Amino acid sequence: MHVSIFGTGYVGLVTGACLAEVGNDVVCVDIDSDKIDALNHGRVPIYEPGLTPIVASNREAGRLHFTTDAAEAVARAEIIFIAVGTPPDEDGSADLQYVLAVADTIGRHLQRPAVIVDKSTVPVGTADRVRAAIASALAERGVQIAFEVVANPEFLKEGAAVEDCMRPDRIVIGASSDDAVERLRRLYAPFNRSHDRIVTMDVRSAELTKYAANAMLATKISFMNEIANIAEKVGADVESVRQGIGSDPRIGRHFIYPGAGYGGSCFPKDVQALARTALHHGHTPVLLQAVEAVNERQKSHLFDLLVQHYCGIDTLRGKTFAVWGLAFKPDTDDMREAPSRRLLQQLQDAGARVRAYDPEAMDEMRRVFGERDDLLLCDSAEHALQGADALVLVTEWKQFRSPDFAALRDVLADAAIFDGRNVYAPEMVEEAGLAYYGIGRGRSV
Ligand code: UGA
Repeated sequence: MHVSIFGTGYVGLVTGACLAEVGNDVVCVDIDSDKIDALNHGRVPIYEPGLTPIVASNREAGRLHFTTDAAEAVARAEIIFIAVGTPPDEDGSADLQYVLAVADTIGRHLQRPAVIVDKSTVPVGTADRVRAAIASALAERGVQIAFEVVANPEFLKEGAAVEDCMRPDRIVIGASSDDAVERLRRLYAPFNRSHDRIVTMDVRSAELTKYAANAMLATKISFMNEIANIAEKVGADVESVRQGIGSDPRIGRHFIYPGAGYGGSCFPKDVQALARTALHHGHTPVLLQAVEAVNERQKSHLFDLLVQHYCGIDTLRGKTFAVWGLAFKPDTDDMREAPSRRLLQQLQDAGARVRAYDPEAMDEMRRVFGERDDLLLCDSAEHALQGADALVLVTEWKQFRSPDFAALRDVLADAAIFDGRNVYAPEMVEEAGLAYYGIGRGRSV
């Protein structure tokens, strides 16, 4: 099928590459000509496992094209995806200006009947606004071309995006005609083989499904962070509690890992946007507000543990901390809303020095923080430890999981580890002669 995709961010680029991989003819459009230039030279602007090879092979095979030419992309396509960003407004609502600009572009250039697919995470009711924008641009041209706007939210996770796209656990399609559903069924058939993963519904329910999924996952995390904070106070270990509750299939083992707070481009933004939508419609979203408040507090928790260990903020001045992991989670270079940003800011404000390392996010780190005297960007995990007083682990990359604790004790002047993801066994750390602080591990407090 001829598919065009607006937006070459995570969602658009991964969707485009995967649709090309299964034989479609895909054009990816972006207004950022540098990005399109880079992609046309085989450079993928994000770190995403498995993405670069399929972008390269499908480009070479002539199935995947990158362009800034929106008119051409619209004119040729039978299915047009909108996968541009929906950043938060000042009040936390999703800013729809990019989505609506694409809708207008589609209306100005549409030549043949098409299904327009909203893949961006957009507030309930957006499909109606997209439909209206396209209809008004068509009316200005004085032409009538049949089109339908479908909500088909994306559930991919950064770091596993290609895998999630090729092997989705569900494909949600919100449409108002059987014809549009049928066309998307055909498009997704290669990803829907062993059993039917397609869930069809009305457009508004599909739009809400996306927010409900992310808000539910964020709720699980904030819930566990709350339990972790209680565990810390009462002298219990949240890791035992996690295993104790996760074995109940109604609760499940996934997404109940306490930590330094959730980050990324989705959960913080989507929880806020859903809360704004609720308020806008006269409903006070008490639970969502609490989920966000818990997360905000959690992002300061590692710093609070440091303050506790050093008996006050003032003693942090002049100390040097090795920080392992800067991306908001492993297997990505994305630092948007990453808990590390809060920690680094707090350490800077307290007059401490930082030696930071992340396997993939160093360029992003340089872009976000620039060069600073009190912040050294290191080439390796070991380099970050040199001359440090203590180690803080913020992102649980695999390569940080089993360090030589005896060597850590020798190199860290204050012999202390602050484990923001509970990846270490406290007994092992303590046996090696280091102080251990985790999240919700009240046994060592
Ligand atoms: C999230 C959803 O998981 C995807 O299904 C969704 O498609 C995507 O948002 C989106 O809306 O586009 P993503 O932001 O890539 O995906 O990251 P997650 O793997 O969900 O992690 C989010 C944050 O939660 C990370 O900071 C992670 O460290 C944290 N987390 C996750 C925890 O603190 N504890 C857990 O148990 C799980």
